[in-house]
Amino acid sequence: MEIDLLKKHWEAFSRDDPLWAVLTDSSRVGRGWDLEEFLATGEREVAGYLDELERLGAAPVGGRALDFGCGVGRLTQALAERFEHCDGVDIAEPMIAEARRINRRAERVDYHVNDAPNLELFAGESFDFVLSSIVLQHMEPRYARGYMAEFVRVLKPGGLALFQVPAGMRTPPPAPLPEGAFRASIALEEAAPRELVALEQTLLQVRVRNESPHTWPVGSRVRLGNHWVDARGQPLAVNDGRSEIDTELRPGAEVTLGLLVRAPPLAGRHTLELDLVQEQVTWFVHRGSPVVRLAVNVRGGEGDRAATAADTGSATTELFTPIMEMYSVPPGDVRDTVIDAGGEVLHELPDENAGSEFESYHYVVRRVAKRRPAVPRQSLTHLRAAIASVPDRTDMLPPIVSRRHGRTARLELRVKQELARATRWFTWAQSEHDRAVLRALSEARGALEEQDAELRRLREELTRLQDEPGGP
Ligand SMILES: C[S@@+](CC[C@H](N)C(=O)[O-])C[C@H]1O[C@@H](n2cnc3c(N)ncnc32)[C@H](O)[C@@H]1O
Repeated sequence: MEIDLLKKHWEAFSRDDPLWAVLTDSSRVGRGWDLEEFLATGEREVAGYLDELERLGAAPVGGRALDFGCGVGRLTQALAERFEHCDGVDIAEPMIAEARRINRRAERVDYHVNDAPNLELFAGESFDFVLSSIVLQHMEPRYARGYMAEFVRVLKPGGLALFQVPAGMRTPPPAPLPEGAFRASIALEEAAPRELVALEQTLLQVRVRNESPHTWPVGSRVRLGNHWVDARGQPLAVNDGRSEIDTELRPGAEVTLGLLVRAPPLAGRHTLELDLVQEQVTWFVHRGSPVVRLAVNVRGGEGDRAATAADTGSATTELFTPIMEMYSVPPGDVRDTVIDAGGEVLHELPDENAGSEFESYHYVVRRVAKRRPAVPRQSLTHLRAAIASVPDRTDMLPPIVSRRHGRTARLELRVKQELARATRWFTWAQSEHDRAVLRALSEARGALEEQDAELRRLREELTRLQDEPGGP
């Protein structure tokens, strides 16, 4: 989605429940985060990063730090313990409003709203450290790469950035379960609410039992999920909540799962359907397994989005359900972006920040003191200059001329001719040597140009292969 829409979605999330929008833990839904516990997760995360950098011998040494996509300042507050000054930047106004409200280090921390696809609000070379965690994964790669380049620009020479971004989906589609394995029974552990406000979230406790003669192995990506259907049987939301069965379930075995569901934005008497799904294979209902259907009365909420949609009850009203998109940037693209911006990638460290489905890395990047062009091109430039400076003449003798007149001029010319005759051998030898050097340099230049062209060709080929589905 475009950046203005991205802002709209994050502002919707952060108006509802900013702490949960930052850390979407299903047990903390509905303003369920305790602020102290929430901030403690940030302290642990920042301590973990800085300890890791120290072990790698690349620890930042204080100064000014930037937290990009700071949300309510979970990481910024922890950074403020280690840096003299911190700036937190976020696209969503309500996030920044909340960050300012709970700012405990006001003398060291400034928060900024920035909805530009760059960091022009900061001058170049102004930070010692840049941190960004669980942010770049939620925007299209063209924006993520733009901000990575900006991280390098705003770093002082030698300064460090640590940013996280997924590299791609971890898992290929699972092997489909055998045909008879898609049979389950689903039951609520406790009664579900009969009424919800539009877009309200609620956590259901659901018992799932494998009613088939086959085991559902770990990693088969069988999940509990739900749909919403309106009174006419029309789907309102096909994909809503998901909860992983992360244990082996043998025939007849049961497991209890929490499922976080969100009411649709339209008011009405809707049906909440609970079903199982094997991701990228099928919903169980399509193989004959029974679903659980619950009638839920959805009414208009306090939020203007909800009220508009719900109060009119009209399907023609613009529907807006905030979503968090997930994207990846291949490591090769990260490296190219950083190098082109004048940085170097020191470390690529795997992490679990993007959940189990994504292969995620945090990159440790240093801004290099001076930009260095690629070696072959630099050598070629030197060679061209050297070749141009070697004159390609067979005779290096100075011209025999005189600016005088009469007898003096004749005398001068005669002396010069004698001198030229006496030194001719040396100048011929010098000239031959120079021309030999010229030939050698020209041959070397030809070889380097061939290598340079081959390197470019290989790089293009690699980029093409990486862009292909299933590429390296
Ligand atoms: C999942 S939260 C993470 C917040 C914080 N990094 C943390 O770990 O506590 C993602 C944050 O990124 C912000 N965000 C998304 N796109 C952004 C952008 N283009 N520029 C700045 N912030 C952005 C969102 O508003 C949200 O606050």
